[in-house]
Amino acid sequence: MDDRNGWGRNRPEPTGSPHDPPTSFVEQATVTNAADDEPLDAQFEDAWPACWERAADLLSWDEAYDTVLDDSNAPFYRWFTGGELNASYNCIDRHLEAGRKNHAAIRWEGKRGERETYTYQDLFVAVNEFAAALRELGVEADDVVTIYLPMIPELPIAMLACARIGAPHSVVFAGLSADALATRMDAADSEYLVTCDGYYRRGDAFNQKSKADNARLAVEQDVETVVVDRLGEELPHVLGDDEWDYHDLCAEFAGASVEPVSRDAEDMLFLMYTSGTTGDPKGVVHSTGGYLAQIAWTARSVLDIQPADTYWCAADIGWITGHSYIVYGPLALGTTTVMYEGTPDYPDRDRLWEIIDRNAVDIFYTAPTAVRAFMKWGTEYPDRHDLSSLRLLGSVGEPISPRPWRWYYEHIGDGECPIVDTWWQTETGAIMVSTLPGVDPMKPGAAGPPLPGIEVAVVDEDGNEVDPGKAGYLTIPRPWPAMARTLYDGDERYRAEYWDRFSDPDADDWWYFSGDTASVDDDGYVTVLGRVDDVINVASQRLSTMEIESAIAEVDGVAETAVVGRSSERRGTEIYAYVSAAGDPSDGLRERILESVADAIGPIATPEAVVFTPELPKTRSGKIMRRLLEDIANGEELGDTSALRNPEIVGEIQSERDRS
Ligand code: PRX
Repeated sequence: MDDRNGWGRNRPEPTGSPHDPPTSFVEQATVTNAADDEPLDAQFEDAWPACWERAADLLSWDEAYDTVLDDSNAPFYRWFTGGELNASYNCIDRHLEAGRKNHAAIRWEGKRGERETYTYQDLFVAVNEFAAALRELGVEADDVVTIYLPMIPELPIAMLACARIGAPHSVVFAGLSADALATRMDAADSEYLVTCDGYYRRGDAFNQKSKADNARLAVEQDVETVVVDRLGEELPHVLGDDEWDYHDLCAEFAGASVEPVSRDAEDMLFLMYTSGTTGDPKGVVHSTGGYLAQIAWTARSVLDIQPADTYWCAADIGWITGHSYIVYGPLALGTTTVMYEGTPDYPDRDRLWEIIDRNAVDIFYTAPTAVRAFMKWGTEYPDRHDLSSLRLLGSVGEPISPRPWRWYYEHIGDGECPIVDTWWQTETGAIMVSTLPGVDPMKPGAAGPPLPGIEVAVVDEDGNEVDPGKAGYLTIPRPWPAMARTLYDGDERYRAEYWDRFSDPDADDWWYFSGDTASVDDDGYVTVLGRVDDVINVASQRLSTMEIESAIAEVDGVAETAVVGRSSERRGTEIYAYVSAAGDPSDGLRERILESVADAIGPIATPEAVVFTPELPKTRSGKIMRRLLEDIANGEELGDTSALRNPEIVGEIQSERDRS
């Protein structure tokens, strides 16, 4: 690693502590370090960027690539240039050719206890039929297909069908509102939508189609819509113009076979909208070759996925974690991936453990917010089940602090399973920072070192690296294969959001800024502290305070608003809204605010608390003092308020907070 900016990775010597990789795991791990091997990160450093060929070798290419990395137009890097491949071929066909057609690809667990298994052959058939149907509807290569489905098998099938014909998909989380769907369809100019009549939320039928209908009314373009009938008689619906029934369409193309389209390594595989520093969601563009290579590599080396495994990532496919580690990563490796439609506490709080027990799940990957809930519910629920099939546990989405870490380690992993705390983002596409479970000791609370081939640096305001143990901005000074290629909204915004802050374009020195703060210890282990932009992680989901603020500001009777995060044991962060009202707030204003946020974004974004105040605290130059509002929300000691134009307001807000 170059001296200029590297946190050279000092592998801590095994200490004999309980957090060394368990011997039973190391003996079978996919990636280990035999005593006489050069450490893997050194091997990667010696051959960077050619080291990434190892990741590309996990894929089947239609056309070999000429160059591993083309950095001639940084920060618009290109990986595996000249190479061609198809993602659906890599996730399906090649496993059939390897004689594994009857191996389970997807095990689906429905909310009402339904179960379905798709072998790789079943998946092949379903994906081909739907790919043929999409073609019939007019979808061509490079047309963006929006998918607005809950966790049902048709979701990954539709994604893979798009990939098969070279149409990028844009999956919108099913819990987002009609407005949010319309904004995303508009921004991507998407003329195709795959949705469903509805789905079950806890026990109740919930209408998804009406949200999709409202979104279609709100966008300018005509939209061809495919509707999956999930609820049958329970929620009858009538198909209008430009609407097709998913299963009828597939039946029409029963037995169809669609040749996978060879895509350039740099062609867009999908678009994923995420929250950014401004109100508008960002359309993050992911490539086909680099993305798939690093996803397959990390699924193998970090999550230790082997084809014979039953692997379960309990995230939603509507977010990046599900794209990378429910669909593309595990299927590229030919394993069995579990898909669960429900919630962890329905019908009872042992639901996840029951699924692990019954399916003999080997690897389980979830978010800290879930672990904190399990911990609160107590050990009686996991104790009801045999979890001894588990070999590895993973965590993603926000920092996992030592207490839940230990609980997860002891009560779910029985002290036998390594935990990989994986740091990454929608934009990084794949895991960037984590221990290698068969190699590195774990440190509860710290994610781990950057993976082999990855470099991170924690820097101060001026871009200078800070000393070990000190907090700073988490940057990535070197490109990586799964990195976002741009934003759909344009290259300018991409540069402004991620590269301008710490790069030196004159020196052609490009540093990616993650938006996170972190510290690195003497062993090169990264502890992620949180976001520095206007993004908050609520129950491991990424939301923009600005987006919530604009939804609140829409409401009649709201004069001004500021949204901040408050630390919460349960949800990581809770949404705390301060509102100065134009009139009498007792007049149903709180309810209208909550409703407006649910309509604009979705129920996940509704504030936990709305605090009314005559004014917001402002500096003399008129800027809202967010830091102060955050401290008030968290009940923290307030620092110097002398810079305020209206210091008297602080006491009023505090007493209002105590009342609300
Ligand atoms: O703040 C970091 C946090 O989640 C952000 C990325 O969110 P999103 O793009 O929605 O992707 C989530 C799943 C990859 C990061 O900027 N984050 C993610 N993983 C961790 C984390 N914070 C601490 N530790 C992690 N393991």
